[in-house]
Amino acid sequence: LSEDELKYRPLFHFTPKNNWMNDPNGMFYLNGKYHLYFQHYPDDNVWGPMHWGHAVSEDLINFEEQPIALYPDEIGLIFSGSAVVDYNNTSGFGTEGKAPVVAIYTYHNMEGEKRGDIDFQTQGIAYSLDEGMTWTKYSENPVIKNPGIKDFRDPKVFWDNENSKWIMSLAAGNKIMFYSSVNLKEWKFESEFGEEKGEHGGVWECPDLFPLKVKDSEEYKWALLVSINPSGPNGGSATQYFIGDFDGHEFTIDDKFSEQLDENKAVWLDYGRDNYAGVTWSNIPDTDGRKLFIGWMSNWDYARDVPTYKWRSTMTVPRELNLVKKNNQYLLKSIPVKELNDFKSKTIEKDSIEPGELSNFFETAEIDFNRLNLEFNLKHLKENEYQIIFNNRNGDSLIIGLNNNSKTIYLDRTKSGKVDFSEKFAPNISRVKLSDMINDAKFQILLDKTSVELFVNDGEIVMTELFFPNNPLDQISIISDDSDFIIKNLVISELNF
Ligand code: FRU
Repeated sequence: LSEDELKYRPLFHFTPKNNWMNDPNGMFYLNGKYHLYFQHYPDDNVWGPMHWGHAVSEDLINFEEQPIALYPDEIGLIFSGSAVVDYNNTSGFGTEGKAPVVAIYTYHNMEGEKRGDIDFQTQGIAYSLDEGMTWTKYSENPVIKNPGIKDFRDPKVFWDNENSKWIMSLAAGNKIMFYSSVNLKEWKFESEFGEEKGEHGGVWECPDLFPLKVKDSEEYKWALLVSINPSGPNGGSATQYFIGDFDGHEFTIDDKFSEQLDENKAVWLDYGRDNYAGVTWSNIPDTDGRKLFIGWMSNWDYARDVPTYKWRSTMTVPRELNLVKKNNQYLLKSIPVKELNDFKSKTIEKDSIEPGELSNFFETAEIDFNRLNLEFNLKHLKENEYQIIFNNRNGDSLIIGLNNNSKTIYLDRTKSGKVDFSEKFAPNISRVKLSDMINDAKFQILLDKTSVELFVNDGEIVMTELFFPNNPLDQISIISDDSDFIIKNLVISELNF
């Protein structure tokens, strides 16, 4: 195995065997299988002519790579998009009672782009009659021509039961356009959203609109995810969201959420620098009822420079999204899918532990930090600073901090190992501003060889970041100049497969 394979190939996150990957695409569930397609350039480890790669999982954690699903053709490269199971055969692509799966994606015409045309992105469709393994492109593509908008891409489609039609959200420059269709072939423009709202320091990409029941209430709201690059909260690429209502034609921001936006300009799904272009799975059965999400665990600021060569890029761990109302504010929370629990081994639980005992405890338990699930509460916190430090004897360190003076949570990878492959990788510490100080916080931390995923208070605050240690991290400490805080409900597991 090459050095990068040994040191950096993640153990419980999806990576392509070879070469370049970016956005997750076309995710759907059918007959026990979770399909994941992805932006893929099979001939090099940097971005190039886009294909849809494909992987399949039965448990959302182990993904098995499949043959390439969609190749570029004479209309263009295959950019991001979605896929739906067309149960009622509205498209007519089905045969003999077999429901087709239909992919809706963006065509990117390179010649047009080179010529300086404005209309080089259009939308096309393809269908599969073997549950997503092989695809036939529709002979009359493109199904949506370009109306004269340079960035016109990333269709995400769902079946609107109430209005009996398909709805597409599409990124169009600095706004989202909604289209509807009864057959996935002919699309009608419905409305657009966003020019005055949210963060606009970059181009809007990869939208996703879906309804969610507000936890512990009878209220339903719609969430609209919008990725933006650059100008994320800590630089580069990130995903913001909007909460509101959708009447089959138009998305309108909820008044309460609008006030949240007045305070903060944008609300982010993840405050770390490495969760981009994420969208949700379609066709999850009602009996399951979850909203399942996966993101590209990288950032356009440095995605092509990270020090892996055989492959480049990783997906986040799949997450469940939940909408809550807290202090009269809407909050879209993310937590790792519960399937991850099935892979926990060597689990150790401790009701409480002295901060000073922690490192010894880890050492005796012989826990592998390359496959770590760590959960605990910090209690009785004061106006102090608290740090969870992962490090090794060579001086690489990754720090998660909670500062109750400045009211921030932060992630510091500036000394985490290899950082100089790009000056944009770790110029500073990533931070989230808190609305108030925290007295009691619940942490869940997933550590893989090159990634940390932090979920505070069951996903109210999420930070996802990459790091590339010179040697594996194998030590932990939790420190503060406050000597009275306590660690409670500690659960440590290795994630083994
Ligand atoms: C987002 C994105 C999409 C586009 C794709 C191209 O990362 O820029 O907008 O469809 O990547 O690979």
